[in-house]
Amino acid sequence: MTRDKKSASAEAGVETIVWPHGPDGTPADEHLTAAVAVLADGGLVALPTETVYGLAGDATRAETAAAIFAAKGRPSFNPLISHVPDLEAVERHGFLTGEARQLAERFWPGPMTLVLRKRPDSPIADLTTSGLDSVALRVPAHPVFQRLSQMFGKPLAAPSANRSGRISPTCAAHVYEELSGRINGILDGGPTEVGLESTVIACLDDQPVLLRPGGIAHADVEACLGRTLARADAEDQTRPQSPGMLLSHYAPDAAVRLNATHVEPGEAWLGFGGDRPAGAETARAGLDLSPSGDLFEAAANLFGALRSLDGQTETGIAVVAIPEDGLGEAINDRLRRAAAPRG
Ligand code: TXA
Ligand code: MG
Repeated sequence: MTRDKKSASAEAGVETIVWPHGPDGTPADEHLTAAVAVLADGGLVALPTETVYGLAGDATRAETAAAIFAAKGRPSFNPLISHVPDLEAVERHGFLTGEARQLAERFWPGPMTLVLRKRPDSPIADLTTSGLDSVALRVPAHPVFQRLSQMFGKPLAAPSANRSGRISPTCAAHVYEELSGRINGILDGGPTEVGLESTVIACLDDQPVLLRPGGIAHADVEACLGRTLARADAEDQTRPQSPGMLLSHYAPDAAVRLNATHVEPGEAWLGFGGDRPAGAETARAGLDLSPSGDLFEAAANLFGALRSLDGQTETGIAVVAIPEDGLGEAINDRLRRAAAPRG
């Protein structure tokens, strides 16, 4: 093992079961039942959503939320998203503004999270929402998540199933690499389709605010509402913030250099659209996120590519410029955080 510092098994305490998927890409009913039993016992199960793998636990139990924060090494002031199977369930936990309802009807189930005013009678634990009077809710489209969430019948708190600050997992093997020994089980549902986390939008009053770009392009949200979204702005404390939008995040071990036009000796390169940076021929490793220049394909490949190149360079990863339109906004957001100075 040359990558010991990445292996969570150093702190191993729990045996992590991996429930495999069958030929149709979904785990067998007996495995889903076993996973639900773990959740009902307050345990932690990683499972696929259409964006990235989530680390799920019962959102109504404070001790389970605490266990999620501990397994990830995540500060508990950074609230978790609660996932439910449908809009009816959403309404048990948060108040939908008119525009929130428009977005919900258009984009759920799917890669969107709405931050709503929390209902005082919602059973979601205060620790899940880090004591805020708002709650982040999402209805994932992934069939495995849908099944499990219906079987479990309670909201599932689920941050991305990686250790805090690191790259989000897009397949079960990545989850194992990050969290084995720290969680009870992993449901393998194959690679995730979108590859980037959900778009997070706060709908707390009459001005919706984009808190995190993600799997649904900003422009599609604005087209649905027929107006522009406000942006969360750290300088403007009158607007809602996303406590999780720390600058250094999604970080591989290797340094990340953006807008590269050439590859330095020892660097690996990450390309887009078939253009190779100068020096790519002699580089140790390199990958094109989408040779045809398709931003959906690039999003789906991003985290896996960073993870793979991270293991193949001692020096760093040179990333070419990627367009800002459509999902490019979220791709560039993640890359900027991967490149940010580490805290
Ligand atoms: O695609 C996704 O969203 C994945 C999958 C597993 O659903 N989940 C995910 O969760 O990315 P997480 O915990 O890594 O990111 C949740 C983001 C954080 O930036 C957090 O600060 C923000 O949502 N958030 C959660 N509750 C909030 C609240 N009440 N107010 C503002 N931001 C909130
Ligand atoms: Mg995350």
